[in-house]
Amino acid sequence: MQLKDSLNVAVSRLTADRVPSPRMNAELLLMFTLNCDRAYLYAHPERELTADESSRYDTALSERTRGVPAQYITGHQEFWGLDLIVTPAVLIPRPETEHVIESVLDFVARALLPANSLRIADVGTGSGAIALALAKELAHAEIHATDISSPALEIARANAACHQFGDRIQFHQTDLLAGFERNSFDFVVSNPPYVGESEEDQVQLEVRRFEPRNAVFAGPMGTEVIERLIPQARAALKPGGWLVMEISGTIAEQVGELLKDWDQVQVKPDLRSIPRVAQARKPR
Ligand SMILES: C[S@@+](CC[C@H](N)C(=O)[O-])C[C@H]1O[C@@H](n2cnc3c(N)ncnc32)[C@H](O)[C@@H]1O
Repeated sequence: MQLKDSLNVAVSRLTADRVPSPRMNAELLLMFTLNCDRAYLYAHPERELTADESSRYDTALSERTRGVPAQYITGHQEFWGLDLIVTPAVLIPRPETEHVIESVLDFVARALLPANSLRIADVGTGSGAIALALAKELAHAEIHATDISSPALEIARANAACHQFGDRIQFHQTDLLAGFERNSFDFVVSNPPYVGESEEDQVQLEVRRFEPRNAVFAGPMGTEVIERLIPQARAALKPGGWLVMEISGTIAEQVGELLKDWDQVQVKPDLRSIPRVAQARKPR
């Protein structure tokens, strides 16, 4: 079958199976199958797919129609301009998490902290998305990334190696910030699990079925991990250091309460006006 016909059949199949953005998914999976870019798809509409290519495309489409996120099929997701490896061992990095990076860079740019000797902890690094983005932007920062999950850390290490950040980021398998010295970090950043099991039915089915449960759910209420992280961050931060955390609108009020004895507490919205980044400064 010709490329354009395969693509059209795939769009119809994904549409019939109610996969969102069927054309985008059909194109993405064909690019993955043929190891090409979108321009190639449109430059060679009459190219015949080999039997092997057709079979691999069919397998990828079947996975997608059964709900597997496209990123777990292709093994890639872009974050902060970095192509990251993703597997079902890690959460798929989301665009809204880039606001965490923006907040950190904003503090550094406003010269509230010296850029040349920064020590940063990324708690719950998953694929390494936040740690790698900060390594890319802050060439002199010393970055430590923690995760409780050993398979997640394997992916984060692979991503760091792919982007030549292997010697810039130190990875630690630990519970939040356990084992770190007091008063030693300028920033503690985190996109922790923050969804409550009580709101599980409001979480997209694909997330519930395919993303790691301990990356998404914190406990019954959603604040359980953050409740432990805030005092640990306070101990690990230098006086005047910043905690920058991704949160959701559901828990924003409780998080504000938990940060009430911190300085300069602010919750910033994402592009959809949902409270998304909580930032607070450890008193000097
Ligand atoms: C929401 S994911 C964030 C992943 C990545 N930072 C990102 O933004 O894409 C949360 C991560 O925290 C990790 N995690 C969960 N509980 C943890 C704990 N007690 N200590 C350290 N990491 C934890 C999970 O394994 C998961 O990788």
